[in-house]
Amino acid sequence: MEYVTLNNHLKMPVLGFGVFRVPDKNECAEIVYQAIKAGYRLIDTAAVYTNEDAVGDGIRKAMSEGICSREDLFITSKLWVQDMKDFDSAKQAIDTSLKKSGLEYFDLYLLHQALGDYFAAWRALEVAYKEGKLKSIGVSNFYPHILTNFCETVEIKPMVNQIELHPYFIQEDALKVMKEYNVIPEAWAPLGGGRYNPFEDQMLQEIATKYNKTVGQVILRWNIQRGVVVIPKSTHQERIVENIDVFDFCLNDEEMKLISSLDKGYGGSRTKHFDPEFVKTVLANKIHD
Ligand SMILES: NC(=O)c1ccc[n+]([C@@H]2O[C@H](COP(=O)([O-])OP(=O)(O)OC[C@H]3O[C@@H](n4cnc5c(N)ncnc54)[C@H](OP(=O)(O)O)[C@@H]3O)[C@@H](O)[C@H]2O)c1
Repeated sequence: MEYVTLNNHLKMPVLGFGVFRVPDKNECAEIVYQAIKAGYRLIDTAAVYTNEDAVGDGIRKAMSEGICSREDLFITSKLWVQDMKDFDSAKQAIDTSLKKSGLEYFDLYLLHQALGDYFAAWRALEVAYKEGKLKSIGVSNFYPHILTNFCETVEIKPMVNQIELHPYFIQEDALKVMKEYNVIPEAWAPLGGGRYNPFEDQMLQEIATKYNKTVGQVILRWNIQRGVVVIPKSTHQERIVENIDVFDFCLNDEEMKLISSLDKGYGGSRTKHFDPEFVKTVLANKIHD
């Protein structure tokens, strides 16, 4: 596994495992266990995925078999919008996340969206960070202007910003802003999240054939080579194994540019995040993502 160093000097794996849309507890615990067995050390969950407990179970199973120790792992969870009403609701929700997962600390904890009173919520994350309950803290879905205002205002700057990043939404402007503030970019939906189908793209297939790799491996590699942490999700064991096997080849500059040329300039999230009705619906707790 390769690592990046966060602005607080903590090391974070450049590739991890996401568990969005895996609500079944047994299935989630099993795939987390399988992922750790396959070599993943970063697991990405969230309060709103309702599987923090199952993630904890999968981790404990792997540790009980001696596959890894807690210190080897980098576990991320996220604070959902309903717990971003004020400082106290956020503080309580951090403790609830920890309790559900059965972990003493998270390696990274994120504000899931720039919604609600996210400055008050951030202060609760800062306190938990200073107490050692959260080893690093960050944000998610913070667009460049929001991140700039945030970094210019808060006491502790976020270490990570998790946003939608794949060849159809490359967000180079967002990456520039993150670099300016030393915030590590982390890609959600690095394989297109099921909303795009990169697997049928001829150019990607040709690059994959050249390296004897799959399209999925090529696009994960592309993000890693441009400094982005990736957290692909799969409930299939063969894909879990496939998606981590990206450290034995290197794309050249021309291939990097070709893949970036697939950019559409918008992603699956954009229509939602810029829609006032979406904002109201999330705040009213009617939808989860
Ligand atoms: N912060 C946020 O707002 C936010 C939003 C979305 C996601 N996330 C995080 O980011 C993680 C990844 O994003 P995501 O789950 O939306 O999308 P993703 O990882 O880009 O794609 C997952 C989809 O690709 C399929 N897949 C996985 N590996 C494959 C392979 N090698 N070949 C072909 N298909 C493959 C999966 O199907 P199978 O499972 O059937 O294999 C699933 O349908 C999430 O799990 C979550 O942890 C965060």
